Amino acid sequence: MSVTNATHRSAGTPAASQTATRRGDPADASRGGALVVSGVSVKYQSQGDEQPVLAVDDVSLEAAPGEFVAIVGPSGCGKSTLLKAVAGLLPTSSGSVSFGGETQARLGFVFQSDALLPWKTAAENVEIAIKMSFRQVSKGRLSKAKLQEKAIELLEQFGLGESTHKYPAQLSGGMRKRVALARAVAYEPSAFLMDEPFSALDAQTRIRVGNFFLRMLEDLGQTVLFVTHDIEEAVAMADRVIVLSKGPGRVIETINVTIPRPRDYHDTRFHPLFKDLQQRVWDSLGYSQGATSGDGE
Ligand SMILES: Nc1ncnc2c1ncn2[C@@H]1O[C@H](COP(=O)(O)OP(=O)(O)OP(=O)(O)O)[C@@H](O)[C@H]1O
Ligand SMILES: [Mg+2]
Repeated sequence: MSVTNATHRSAGTPAASQTATRRGDPADASRGGALVVSGVSVKYQSQGDEQPVLAVDDVSLEAAPGEFVAIVGPSGCGKSTLLKAVAGLLPTSSGSVSFGGETQARLGFVFQSDALLPWKTAAENVEIAIKMSFRQVSKGRLSKAKLQEKAIELLEQFGLGESTHKYPAQLSGGMRKRVALARAVAYEPSAFLMDEPFSALDAQTRIRVGNFFLRMLEDLGQTVLFVTHDIEEAVAMADRVIVLSKGPGRVIETINVTIPRPRDYHDTRFHPLFKDLQQRVWDSLGYSQGATSGDGE
């Protein structure tokens, strides 16, 4: 079904734009259906007489239920644009997006900017997502105390146990990103759309958060579309890596990551298949044998 010119009913606030439901009643949303992106192009309207900018060109991809698909490509090639179009936050100029054959699904977003509500504490930002999820899925309510307890528990998993009462302005970029991640997880979506979610995290925190996320996916089996500039991270986490060309983004190649699961965010990099897969992604991006030409990562 086409979602061209999709209107997004909960995209009005920064918080909602992170935990939105793509059209319709989330209670009806298909949990675990395949995500199918078919021939999607996205144009940005320019000001004045200039021609519209084609940012994404005829992209088709699929993520099976529970599949982890990473998207890599040069800066400016349209990765964020594609993700926003899949989320229904940007209109497509052609093509369609569906989730288990429907145009709606419970989606958890983590965008490049963290978009937290500045007037809410870290815990309160997460509480909103828990509240929304509980209302939509269980059609019930949680007491304030229970909401707070759950939010704090989750923030502890992201290493933020000491900062639950702080406001976004009092947190570092990496901490804010972790709150945004906790909020997306708290929403219990059927699919995650993630735009460089770990980019602001230090190496140790990345391993901790990456492993928490991988374990959660093993338990709950959500589908993930994951944009990253980090080729190693893409190979360590994904079932497939989709390589986009420089802008306007087109799919150049899809690389199957055959490393078995369960995986460890860090240790997987020492698996015998890892180096070869990583090199295939670099080759696809135009960086062969350490060549330095091109517009790559
Ligand atoms: N709101 C906008 N209006 C007009 N053009 C835009 C807008 N947002 C992005 N673009 C253009 O669309 C193209 C794709 O941008 P996008 O942000 O999707 O790239 P990206 O692959 O996510 O880059 P990066 O890796 O740097 O985050 C770029 O040429 C960019 O200049
Ligand atoms: Mg981007």
